[in-house]
This record gives sequence, structure tokens and C-alpha cells, in this order.
Amino acid sequence: MARVGFIGFGRMGKALMGGFLAKGLIKKDDVIAYDKDISIMKNAGVSTKYSAFEVVEASDAVFICVKPQDMEDVLEEIRDIAGSRLIVSVAAGVSTGRIEERLHEARVIRVMPNAPALINEMAGAFCLGKRALPEDGAYVGGLLNSVGVAYQVDEGLMDAVTGLSGSGPAYVYYMINSFIEAGKSVGLPDDVALNLTLQTVRGAVNMIIASKRDPVDLIEDVASPGGTTIEGLKALDDGKVDEAIMEAVRCAANRSRELGK
Ligand SMILES: NC(=O)c1ccc[n+]([C@@H]2O[C@H](COP(=O)([O-])OP(=O)(O)OC[C@H]3O[C@@H](n4cnc5c(N)ncnc54)[C@H](OP(=O)(O)O)[C@@H]3O)[C@@H](O)[C@H]2O)c1
Repeated sequence: MARVGFIGFGRMGKALMGGFLAKGLIKKDDVIAYDKDISIMKNAGVSTKYSAFEVVEASDAVFICVKPQDMEDVLEEIRDIAGSRLIVSVAAGVSTGRIEERLHEARVIRVMPNAPALINEMAGAFCLGKRALPEDGAYVGGLLNSVGVAYQVDEGLMDAVTGLSGSGPAYVYYMINSFIEAGKSVGLPDDVALNLTLQTVRGAVNMIIASKRDPVDLIEDVASPGGTTIEGLKALDDGKVDEAIMEAVRCAANRSRELGK
């Protein structure tokens, strides 16, 4: 797929393109972008066009990276030029069916990225519309895995992905904030509480990855009977933190389902 277009070149559009370029999966000369915001266009650093229509006309594959509420305008504008091109949408909650209804022949792929895509640490997923070919999935999967991790799933699971990894960074920020506040409440200076928390979270994530062990086994390693950690774990159990996390993911997935209707 030689020429790759971007309609909407804000945070996500730029981040995706940056990752694809950095991994050498696309060439800068083959990128074409359009954003409604003129200041973004002035600093795009790639070839730009004056409309979404022109981007599609000049591209083999097009990433639409606008907010969900701007999708209808974009689809209306590119309806007569999209043809059978590969159209990749990152708009949350917009189904492939809705895009296929507007673009009658396009091969459509829908992506649910998450905020850390902005630093090449995405956890996300994508699904294929009914006209997308397996090789389209392989192509887009290859691109997305250059900015993190992306799984191909059935479209019915996109709401679940939204509930877990789409909304997940906010839950992790929430928990990190609680740890920092807790550290301060037991007497640590602000910067010490912050940096010990961040390194503890990073260390724990890297332990799971490096050891390839189940988190439950790793808990057992550090929770010796009569020790300190087991007391803390009891408090988490008493507070039903596991149930609250289940509920958070379930509520976000349900909301995603509602918004997509
Ligand atoms: N950022 C994230 O963490 C994240 C995570 C998951 C999914 N997403 C999805 O990614 C998509 C983009 O999000 P974002 O954070 O990159 O938003 P953003 O930074 O606001 O970028 C979107 C850009 O699209 C432009 N735009 C709007 N309508 C347009 C049109 N008709 N033609 C061309 N450009 C148009 C906007 O311009 P104006 O500002 O002038 O309207 C804006 O510059 C959203 O659908 C969102 O659901 C984002």
C-alpha cells in the first residue's frame, strides 16, 4: 500500500503516522494529510491537501482520525471518491457497518487505539468490515503493532476492548494517584511518593513481562504469612477493589455499546 492518507491530523493521526514512519513501515514522501485546523496543517511536516476529498483521491489507504461527531461530515465529503479503497477509522464507537453504508465499496477497518499510542505504547484492537480483505487486516495490524500492541478481534468485542484498554489508562492513572496520595499520607515527601509509586508500577509491570508468570503467583511470592504485604492485600480485599475494577470495565464497555447505537 504505497500512499497513506490521514484525514484529521490531531494527536492520534500524528502519533500513528510518527510510529509508522519511525519503524520504516511507510515513507514520509508517501504520506498525505488534511486537517480542518490550519495551524496543524502549517506544521504537518508532510505533504498536505486542501480537503479530505483530495487526500482520498491521492491515497491507497486512508486513516480517518477525527472525533466521532465529525465522522458524518468526512464520510459525506469522501463518499464519491472512496471507491474500493482501504479506509481505516479510529473514531470510537463508529461501526464498520455505519461507514460501509456511506462508502458503498470501501474496504473498512475500525481501530480502537488508546492514549499511550501518543508515546508508541498503545494497547488496542481492530476489526475488519465485511469488504476488508485478510491482507488489509495484515497490513493494518502490521502498522498498528509498530505503535504498541494491537489485536484483531470480531467487531462484537470492540466495546469490550474500549472498556478495558481504551478507557484503561484512566483507571491506571486513578490508581497511581491513589498510591501517591497514600504515600504522602504515611509521611513521604511529595516527590518521593511520586517517584516511588511510578517506579513500583513500572517494576511490577516489567516483572510480569520478564518472568512470564501469572500475577497471582507473583502476589504469593511477596505476601508471606504474618508479613506486611499480606496486611495491605487484606485491606484491598476488604475494600472489594477487584470488584470495583470489574465494574469499571463493565460500565465503560456498556457505555461504548450505548454510544455506538
Ligand atoms: N487521543 C486519544 O487518546 C484517543 C484514544 C482512543 C481513540 N481516539 C480516537 O481518535 C480520534 C481522534 O482523536 P484525537 O485525540 O486525535 O483528536 P484531535 O486531537 O482533536 O484531532 C482531530 C482533528 O481532526 C480535525 N477535524 C475535524 N473535522 C475534520 C474534517 N471534517 N476534516 C479534517 N479534519 C477534521 C480536528 O480539527 P478541529 O479541532 O478544528 O475540529 C482536529 O484537528 C477520535 O475519534 C477518538 O475517538 C483517540
